[in-house]
Amino acid sequence: MELGESAAYVRREVQARVLIATITNPPVNALGADVRRELVAAIEAAEADETVEAVLLVGAGKNFIAGADIREFGKAPRQPSLPEVCERIEQCQKPVIAAIHGVALGGGLEIALAAHYRLAVAGARMGLPEVHLGLLPGAGGTQRAPRLIGVPAALDMMLSGRQIDTEEALAIGLIDRIATGGDAYTHGLAYAQELLSSRAPVRRTRNADRHLTDRDASRAAIAAARADTAKKTRGLFSPLKIVETVEATLEQSFEQGLLTERNLFAQCMASPQRAGLIHAFFAEREVLKAPETRDAKPRPFAHIGVVGGGTMGAGIAVAALDAGLLVTMIERDDASLASGRANIAKVYDGLIARGRMSEQDKENLLARWTGGTTYDALATVDIVIEAVFEDMAVKRAVFSELDRVCKPGAVLATNTSYLDVNELAASVSRPGDVIGLHFFSPANIMKLLEVVVPKQVSADVVATAFALASKLRKVPVRAGVCDGFIGNRILARYRTAADYMMEDGASPYQIDKAIREFGYPMGPFEVSDLAGGDIGWATRKRRAATRAPDERYVQIADRLCERGRFGQKTGRGFYLYPNGSRTGSVDPEVEAIVEAERQRAGISPRTFTNDEIIRRYMAAMINEGANVVHEQIALRPLDVDIIFLSGYGFPRHRGGPMKYADSVGLKTVVDDIREFAKEDPVFWKPSPLLAQLVESGADFSSLNQYA
Ligand code: CAA
Ligand code: NAI
Repeated sequence: MELGESAAYVRREVQARVLIATITNPPVNALGADVRRELVAAIEAAEADETVEAVLLVGAGKNFIAGADIREFGKAPRQPSLPEVCERIEQCQKPVIAAIHGVALGGGLEIALAAHYRLAVAGARMGLPEVHLGLLPGAGGTQRAPRLIGVPAALDMMLSGRQIDTEEALAIGLIDRIATGGDAYTHGLAYAQELLSSRAPVRRTRNADRHLTDRDASRAAIAAARADTAKKTRGLFSPLKIVETVEATLEQSFEQGLLTERNLFAQCMASPQRAGLIHAFFAEREVLKAPETRDAKPRPFAHIGVVGGGTMGAGIAVAALDAGLLVTMIERDDASLASGRANIAKVYDGLIARGRMSEQDKENLLARWTGGTTYDALATVDIVIEAVFEDMAVKRAVFSELDRVCKPGAVLATNTSYLDVNELAASVSRPGDVIGLHFFSPANIMKLLEVVVPKQVSADVVATAFALASKLRKVPVRAGVCDGFIGNRILARYRTAADYMMEDGASPYQIDKAIREFGYPMGPFEVSDLAGGDIGWATRKRRAATRAPDERYVQIADRLCERGRFGQKTGRGFYLYPNGSRTGSVDPEVEAIVEAERQRAGISPRTFTNDEIIRRYMAAMINEGANVVHEQIALRPLDVDIIFLSGYGFPRHRGGPMKYADSVGLKTVVDDIREFAKEDPVFWKPSPLLAQLVESGADFSSLNQYA
């Protein structure tokens, strides 16, 4: 029998006394208002129909339910609310069974928690990822999960946001059984029949208290989680609120606990962190939609060539091996090849030492690696990535060899940081196959991959780059060709702003601290010590001849390098690293060098507040971000945001520099730049795009084409 045929989002049918409600809201069955309304209607229909004795909730398509509809957040609420839906499900007078497949996340899992019995098909994954969006489970999950699985397990799920598999879910009591083979519908129906035959009662999670009886242990878990969370989640708003709501399960009735959850959920929802994190969520998906990925199909690939086995070549090779690809590495000579292979082995040895990999795993991975010192070994590769010295002549020589040996249709990629990819492409007979793949160090770890698109490249080569990124589990962002592409070009500007502030009176230690307090894991001078001051020094020397004569140039870092202070690797840089320590301490000698440089430059130092440091640092970043969008080097402001979130440690809860600019107000940013320009009009020039947006009362998000 068909019931409620008008229902478009929750299909209803009755089979052998069970009303089956199939949630049908592609692509992920998010719990939009229509789904919520029809879920309530399904429960009411089941209660009203005497032939129905139980309700089965299943999801159509790949998943049970991926959670609340994130696109509704921040908009006017529509009834019924998700907590009301969960309440209605739990209050149903007939047993409600949730049969989970694919994912049950956030509100999706909360629906399952409100049901009376839970089954999951092997392979299903369950989680409460709200913390990643700056939220807490807001539909009773904070009160039901601890009752079902205990305070420690519930805190773990909510604070980590991790997805757990069916075995773990069964072990902690989140689900009642695992079904293997077959689909959720069939297994769910069979389970429902079984429950009916055994006259299984309605069993409400709100009444489960087995796990809450040992209050002392639960309180100790709360105290430990509170201390740990305060330490680890620097400045994040929702994690401590999660602890507070879970604590309510011990101190308050279920109903009061729900009110506490509601109140704290509303606080999280109102927080700018929620807006930043949700922007990050959508922007991460939006960057995948470059014009070429819509219009062209990627070329197939299984075998990757890597030229150069240094820092980057080895890291790229590890990323490719980890993704199951075949790798052929080319080096200059046998000794360099051996060291390239050793660089790869070192990464795996590190994992073995930490117990995260076995010798056998390492051998299996390295079995897909081959090496050579002549280019002929690259005749059959599908994609080759060049990672040799940053020198156009050397790279052109490599590309000419690649042009000679690689099969037709092979993608020829360069990992250059700054060189002109158009020039490199034009130097070969097949410029349509040439692209930039700018990895970040360490290449096997860092998520960001700038896909640098030269003028003549074929659309399917760009699509292949995006497909490779997905295979390597990287976040690809499309970038146009210019000096430094998106990330390093913007970095150069705000790094310079930091140098100016240092020479003008702020100590490198104050600047680092202000940047850390903003949410970065490290400040710019700590990063420079970590990366090695010699790298930047070499670049500065190379560029000295072409530097504009009216440009202000701060020499402090050069003075440090002249004294061999290259950072952590030499035990001294901006900081001191005694006895191989990785945390630096303040060095009076550096303060003296800075002071001497100020005098040499004729600068009388002034004080900076931390707020001014942030304003200048961010204004430099935002202004260059606007230039990059204006020149169409970045497709949209959100592409700049994702570059900084995934490659430069920008605090995710602020959504990226462009999102942050919107939250501060673009007029405030432009006013700051105009103010700073009074003292240095060469450096501080408002981007035409920024000025234009302020003029028209618009913001960066108006240029992000997504809901
Ligand atoms: N709401 C709205 N849209 C969503 C969504 C959600 N919860 N989850 C995914 N989508 C959208 C994506 O934006 C994407 O849209 P486009 O195709 O237009 O870009 C589409 O669904 C497919 O998503 P993915 O590309 O991510 O697909 P995938 O197969 O790689 O991953 C997934 C699927 C595991 C469900 C993943 O999308 C995901 O993790 N989603 C978010 C889950 C989540 O955070 N849920 C908690 C929501 S908050 C909540 O529920 C709070 C509460 O208590 C009120
Ligand atoms: P590296 O100096 O560690 O490694 C370069 C390797 O290339 C050396 O092993 C060298 O033997 C090899 N090589 C040189 N000429 C060769 C040739 N003709 N044929 C085969 N192999 C050759 O340099 P690194 O840091 O790995 O940089 C490589 C490229 O990656 C550069 O273009 C650099 O700008 C870029 N890059 C570097 C990043 C970093 O953080 N180190 C980040 C992103 C890009």
